[in-house]
Amino acid sequence: MPKVQRLDPLVAERIAAGEVVERPASAIKELVENSLDAGARQIIVELVGGGMHLLRVIDDGCGMSAEDVKLALERFATSKIRQWEDLDALSTLGFRGEALPSIAAVSKLEIHTCEAEANHGTKIRVEGGVLVDESPSPALVGTRVTVEELFYNTPARLKFLKSAAAETSQVVDLLTRMALTQPEVHFQVRSNQREVFLVTSKMTLPQRMAALWKVPLEDLVEVNGEVQGVEVRGWVAKPQHARPTRNHQLFCLNGRIIKSASLSQAVLEGFTPLVSKGRYPVALLHLSIDPSLIDVNVHPTKAEVRFAEARAPFRAIYRSIATSLEEHSADSVQPQHWDLIEEPPVAAADPPAWRESSPGYQAPPPRPQLPYRAPSPGLAATLELFKPIEMAPHGPRIQVLTQLYRTFIVAQVDGELWVVDQHTAHERIWYEKLAHLQPLDGPRQGLLVPEIIEFSPPQAALLEGSLAEIQSFGFEIEPFGGTSFQMRSLPSGVKPGRAAGIIRDLVDQMSSEQISLRNHPQEVVREKLRAMVSCKAAIKAGDPLSVDEMESLIREMLEVEHSNYCPHGRPTRIKLDDRALERLFHR
Ligand SMILES: Nc1ncnc2c1ncn2[C@@H]1O[C@H](COP(=O)(O)OP(=O)(O)OP(=O)(O)O)[C@@H](O)[C@H]1O
Ligand SMILES: [Mg+2]
Repeated sequence: MPKVQRLDPLVAERIAAGEVVERPASAIKELVENSLDAGARQIIVELVGGGMHLLRVIDDGCGMSAEDVKLALERFATSKIRQWEDLDALSTLGFRGEALPSIAAVSKLEIHTCEAEANHGTKIRVEGGVLVDESPSPALVGTRVTVEELFYNTPARLKFLKSAAAETSQVVDLLTRMALTQPEVHFQVRSNQREVFLVTSKMTLPQRMAALWKVPLEDLVEVNGEVQGVEVRGWVAKPQHARPTRNHQLFCLNGRIIKSASLSQAVLEGFTPLVSKGRYPVALLHLSIDPSLIDVNVHPTKAEVRFAEARAPFRAIYRSIATSLEEHSADSVQPQHWDLIEEPPVAAADPPAWRESSPGYQAPPPRPQLPYRAPSPGLAATLELFKPIEMAPHGPRIQVLTQLYRTFIVAQVDGELWVVDQHTAHERIWYEKLAHLQPLDGPRQGLLVPEIIEFSPPQAALLEGSLAEIQSFGFEIEPFGGTSFQMRSLPSGVKPGRAAGIIRDLVDQMSSEQISLRNHPQEVVREKLRAMVSCKAAIKAGDPLSVDEMESLIREMLEVEHSNYCPHGRPTRIKLDDRALERLFHR
C-alpha cells in the first residue's frame, strides 16, 4: 500500500472547487450572489464564449478594502457569519466563505474593488489559486470580478462543458431567475458584446415576468397569503399559459432561489382542476419564513433547503394560489364580459375564454335539445313569453320565470334579472355546505334498507383509507366484510338513488388520479373529496326542476359565500339590473 500523505494545498483547493463551481453558470451564480450581498443596485454581467473564455460581474455594492479582498480569497473566510448560531438568522445568500477561493483555484481571476470612502481601490490577480499581482486601482466604488479561462487547469472538467451557446443559455436562464427574484436591482447581461437582456429597477415584478418569460401582463394573477407563519407573495399566469416543463416556475425562500418538487406540486394543487396532467403553471413565488425554522446548509450549491415544518410551505402555496384564482375568476365574471344582446343566451353563459381554452377545462355536458320550442329569440322575448310566477313574499323577492334548456334558471331576484347555471350553482352550495363537518347526528336521511356496495380489492383499500373523510361529509358508510361496504344513511339533499353511484365515482376518480393520504397531505385529500362530492351530489345540467326546486336553489345561493362562481371558478349566474339593461340597449 502506498503511504498516506497530505495533499498539496493547491491540489486540495482544486479538488474542493469542483463542489462549488461546475460550469460558467455556477461561477456567475456565486459572483452575482456576492454582489447582491454587497448591497448592489446595479449588476452587469458579461460573457465571452459562453463564459468559458471570459466572464465578468460588475456591481455598485459596498466594495472591499485591500486587506479584506486578500482574505476573501482564502477558504472559509467570510464577512457574513461569525459563529455557527448566525446561520439561524441568516439574511445573506453567502455564508461558507468558499466561492471566491474555489473560482480562483480553477481560473485566472482578477478583482478590482473599492469601498465608498476610499481614495483608491485595489486590483488583485490570482491564477490557479496563486497570487500574481496586487496593486492600487482607480477609486470606482463597487467590485468588478473577471474570470478568464475557467477550468484551464482542470482539463477533465473542461471536457464536460457544452457548447458556448449551451453554456450561454444556462447563464441566461440563471440570470433571468435572479432578475425575477430581485426586482429592485437593475440587471444588464451581455454576451459576446451583444445585449441579451436588460431590466431596470423601475420595472415591477410582473413587468419583468412578462418581459423575461413572455407571458402577457394582463394574464398574471397576484398571489398573496399567509399560512402557519409562511408568507407567500408572487404572481401566477392564468392556466392557459401552463408549460410542458417546470422551467417557468420559480420559488424564492427568504430571497434565496430554491428548487423543490414538493412546492411545484403545491402549485399544481392550487391550480387543480384547471391544468391538465403534464403541464406546469407559470409561477413566481416568494416565501418568507422565520430563518430559524429552515436549514440552508444541506446542499453544496445551496439550492435546497430543509423546513422544520415540512407541510407548512406546501399548504401556504396551494391555499394562496387557489384563493387568488378563485377571487380572480370572481372578478372576471362580470356581465360586461358577455355580449348578451348579440349572442343568444346560451352562448352568453359560456365561461370566459381563458378557462375554455385552458387544457384542464372540461366542457359542461351537452345541453339537451328542447323538442318543442325553437331556441330562445333573445332575452327580451324570453321575458315576454313567460309569465312570472309569484313566490313567497318574505326576504329577497324571487320570481322564477323559467328553466331554459333544462340547464339554466331564469329568475327575477329583487328586481334583477338572473340567469343561473343550475349545476355550477348547486355545486357551490354543496361545496360550502361540506366546508363544515356533517355530524352523524345532524340532518341526514336514513336508508330503509342499508345499501351494500362492492369494490375491487385496491379500491376497497383506497376507500378504507379515506373513510373518515367521506364520513365527515355525512355519508354513514362502513366496511362490511371482504371488499364490501355498507351505507346506512346519506347527507340530506342527496337523492338516495344516487348515493351508491356517488361513492363509486368518488373511488374511481381517487384511483385514477392517485389521490390518497400516502400521496397527499390530509387536507389536500379532503379538499379534493369535497370538490368531488359537491360535483357529484349537485343537480346536473339536463335535470328537470320544479319551480319550487328552482326557487329554493336560488334562496340557498343567496345564503352561501362565493356564490357567484363554482369551486372550479366557473360562473354560476349572470346578473342584469336596470342599469346594465339600459347600457345594453344604449339608453
Ligand atoms: N462583490 C463583492 N462586493 C463586496 N464584497 C465581496 C464581494 N464578493 C465577495 N465579497 C467579500 O468576500 C467574502 C468572501 O466571498 P465568498 O463568496 O468567497 O464567500 P461568502 O459569500 O462569504 O460565502 P459563500 O461561499 O457561501 O458564497 C464575502 O464574505 C464578502 O465579504
Ligand atoms: Mg459568496
